[in-house]
Amino acid sequence: MDQIIVRGGAPLSGAIPIAGAKNACLALMPATLLSEEPLTLTNAPRLSDIATMTELLASLGAEVSSLQDGKVLAMSSHDLNNHTAEYDIVRKMRASILVLGPMLARDGHAVVSLPGGCAIGARPVDLHLKALEALGAELDLREGYVHAKAPGGLKGAVVEFPFVSVGATENVLMAATLAKGTSVIKNAAREPEIVDLARCLRAMGAQIEGEGTSEITVQGVDRLHGATHPVVTDRIELGTYMLAPAITGGEVLLEGGRMDLVGAFAEKLDQAGISVTEEPGGLRVARKNGRVRAVDVVTEPFPGFPTDLQAQMMALLCTAEGKSVLEEKIFENRFMHAPELMRMGAAIDVHGGTATVTGVDRLKGAPVMATDLRASVSLILAGLAAEGETVVSRVYHLDRGYERVEEKLGACGAQIERVKAS
Ligand code: EPZ
Repeated sequence: MDQIIVRGGAPLSGAIPIAGAKNACLALMPATLLSEEPLTLTNAPRLSDIATMTELLASLGAEVSSLQDGKVLAMSSHDLNNHTAEYDIVRKMRASILVLGPMLARDGHAVVSLPGGCAIGARPVDLHLKALEALGAELDLREGYVHAKAPGGLKGAVVEFPFVSVGATENVLMAATLAKGTSVIKNAAREPEIVDLARCLRAMGAQIEGEGTSEITVQGVDRLHGATHPVVTDRIELGTYMLAPAITGGEVLLEGGRMDLVGAFAEKLDQAGISVTEEPGGLRVARKNGRVRAVDVVTEPFPGFPTDLQAQMMALLCTAEGKSVLEEKIFENRFMHAPELMRMGAAIDVHGGTATVTGVDRLKGAPVMATDLRASVSLILAGLAAEGETVVSRVYHLDRGYERVEEKLGACGAQIERVKAS
């Protein structure tokens, strides 16, 4: 199993290109199931999660070709010959549940394994199921699978979520495009990935209004056609690499970065004493002098501070001047990076959903273990700032969401390498 070895201390300078968004791409790929015509995604990221979604779509009978070194995904769902998403694939990746709405909407039936829990929390899919039931789906849960039917087709309805869910909004949005009549999704997620999905669906002929606000209206159509769509920039990869020069000192241009994707996060960096400026080529981040200042962070749905940047922000705050309080409001168990950071000398006190970080002068390199995707990259960031060598194990988590991390950071002067563990 691969390990990443980081030798800390070097300030970074240079440019890092930001890829297309993993979480947008994982919602856009199942949209191919809505149409018999080809859907092509450009600016796709090269990640193991994308390979898993490819495997899932292929198991349903879709054709997915990876072109231009994986940056283009050409998909066709002309002949769907299987409507069952098997546990063996779904258990690897929760986003697999996103094939349910499209298959049901197009063909009136689908069977999808329930994903089960995961490292960061229980993560049920009840909101997805209730929303599809509101559109007239008949659901039966047996032997770990959702058996879904809509014999006369789905029907437009008002779906009001009790709280914001990105995935449930995506599932019902896709399903509603082919439902009869009008659907209104209330308390919808407003994430840029939702906006990107709505744009792609509209390019396929869907009638959608209000994406990016908490009320989305969809007028169902009889069929969707083919389209080509560029995947939006990955705001979480962007935020992660914005933290690299923040943590080491130096100055880096994040190519393709946009302030509107990371507003709340950039505001926190500003409070911490990091400069973020937008220019035509992307976002420029610099930490020129002095120690980072402590800041308090509460994770929230977009446009709030993203839960997917909480672990990385914690890595920065470990060496800030003063005490920072981080409140995790989206997932119940998303502080597993804290004990690993403490092995590097961080002073962190976790109580339920709140972590208090008291800044120390310097972190020290140590062998650490990645527990999930964002936790693993937070350990790499911490390693960049630490004295000595940090060895991060279980980096397969990292490969789910970050392409060529060692190359991107290495190009800016970081001492980082991937090795095969013996
Ligand atoms: C998406 O997950 C992202 N994944 C996550 O990114 C991200 O952390 C999360 O949104 C929040 O921003 C993808 O887009 C593939 P939710 P999703 O439904 O859609 C609860 C990463 O690191 N909930 O918005 O699964 C749920 O347990 C990953 O890239 C229910 O209770 O998240 C959570 O507490 C991790 N019932 C909250 O809602 C449901 O039916 C928000 O989850 C659905 C969700």
